[in-house]
Amino acid sequence: MKTWWKEAVGYQIVPQTFCDSNGDGIGDLRGIVQKLDVLQELGVDLLWLGPIFRSPMADDGYDVSDYRSVNPLLGTMEDLQELIRQVHARGMRIILDLVLNHTSDQHPWFQKARKDRSAPEHDYYLWQKGRIGAHGEPLPPTNWASFFSDSAWCYNEATDEYFLKIFSDKMPDLNWSNPALRQEMKAIARFWLDQGIDGFRIDAAAHLAKKRDWQDSPLPPDAQGWVPDWSQFSNLPELFGYLDELKREVFDQGDWVMIGEVGGGASVQTALNYVDEQSGALNMVFTMDHCWANGIHASQLSLSHQARIDVVALKKTFAHWIEGMSERAWLPVYWLNHDHPRVVSQYGDPHRYHRESATMLEQTLLLMRGTPFLYNGEEIGMTNDEQAQLEDFHDVWVKNMMASLRGRVDDAALLDHFRRTSRDNARSPMQWSDQPYAGFSTVPPKRRVNPNYIRINVQAQRQDPHSIWRHVQRTLALRKDPAWRDLFVYGSFQLVEAEHPQLFAYCRRDERREVWVISNFTAQPASIRLPQCSLRCLLANYPDSDPHPGDNLLRPYESLAVLIGAKEKQQ
Ligand code: GLC
Ligand code: CA
Repeated sequence: MKTWWKEAVGYQIVPQTFCDSNGDGIGDLRGIVQKLDVLQELGVDLLWLGPIFRSPMADDGYDVSDYRSVNPLLGTMEDLQELIRQVHARGMRIILDLVLNHTSDQHPWFQKARKDRSAPEHDYYLWQKGRIGAHGEPLPPTNWASFFSDSAWCYNEATDEYFLKIFSDKMPDLNWSNPALRQEMKAIARFWLDQGIDGFRIDAAAHLAKKRDWQDSPLPPDAQGWVPDWSQFSNLPELFGYLDELKREVFDQGDWVMIGEVGGGASVQTALNYVDEQSGALNMVFTMDHCWANGIHASQLSLSHQARIDVVALKKTFAHWIEGMSERAWLPVYWLNHDHPRVVSQYGDPHRYHRESATMLEQTLLLMRGTPFLYNGEEIGMTNDEQAQLEDFHDVWVKNMMASLRGRVDDAALLDHFRRTSRDNARSPMQWSDQPYAGFSTVPPKRRVNPNYIRINVQAQRQDPHSIWRHVQRTLALRKDPAWRDLFVYGSFQLVEAEHPQLFAYCRRDERREVWVISNFTAQPASIRLPQCSLRCLLANYPDSDPHPGDNLLRPYESLAVLIGAKEKQQ
């Protein structure tokens, strides 16, 4: 079935680091309004805003303390109205980030819950008594790890209980088995949809239900001593009941798009439970397999930054998902979000081949099957923001890891690890120009600006026909060209030369035509044999690419999109 959100091109904005309109060092909603024309010119049309509700910002807004007001750091309800209006006036759409799994510990519900076991809000959260260890030491109710590398439980003195928090101590998990809580959350979803937005990205959607027998996991503990066993609180049967209820009572009431974040190692089969076009409650899910394809993000402290990307594994991961979903569901495709390193630092070469590798990565991504999502700054090849010292990191996950590992692992190894993997990497301010603070703000920003803004910025790249920004624009123009849209959006997807160790090549096909997208993921030349028929190069990231029948040698990070058998098939 054809729908607007399958044809859209997504763009994720982190509001607080995008554009500061009022000179307080923090990006804001009015700042986004100022940049809409540039985004439109680039060719994106579905904006996903990171969390904008009131929050103490312990986890960049994913810790919500009031679900019905705009975070004053970012603006007002009127600013949001204006943003929605301006987005729609440009024929674009906008979705908000909705955090259903947990609140901030500052949320009034939790403030009541933690003081008084008899308050109705107490049961909005998940509480258990602690245990006593073999040596009389207090222990949390289970051995589960949180996603942020500490225990999944936090002690609350006032009630002598632990509350579950699968992310941070400051983000207690909500109890979705409580019907009153579910009513509250449905009303909140309706409240924002009533403002005229076009849908939600649903944060941590996979985790709303937990195994409620509260047993230790039998799996081995990690270096911190806790067991990272996501099956205790991921993709559980009750969850799908909660989502169906949301769908029936809220999501089905408009032509919105609902995209769930489904980390926690979901399989294709599990993902289909969310997004099957007949029976799923959501429209798409973000699963993260390919973001970790070369293991660089995972907690392998031993991996050095020399670890090279495994191209075969990476493309097979994409193919596995695209092929697995294509009959019954639709996928978003993306290189990263705010939780990952910058893609050009991870899968490209930001030093010797910055332009080539970034344009190659974008061409590969943006012509795939699925709804593409760019992450702000990706369109200019923004790189990891390499912190100078361990003290410079903000990321709560890094801080937790550091608290338990410092002293046991040497500082140099830790620094190297976090510079590659930290979530701070992709959260530095957007680089608009070579003006002070990268044109992001007129005062020193709250988050440090990556010093390479002098070289890497939107203004310079818009003026340069060979820049990454321009190449992304060209690629999106091709994807959206009425002559090609059906092929690039709805056409089939199949890997070409799936075992080739350097090339990520795939074929897009509709009834009439066949286009091969061929990308060299390495700095070494790579060869491919093209069919003996007429060929037309639709797009390339080198100015003089000239694909021909027979053997072709692709240069470092070269990427081609070639119409195969142009003449024959067009007759
Ligand atoms: C999601 C978000 C991440 C956040 C977490 C807790 O994984 O993408 O940034 O820390 O949920 O809300
Ligand atoms: Ca501001």
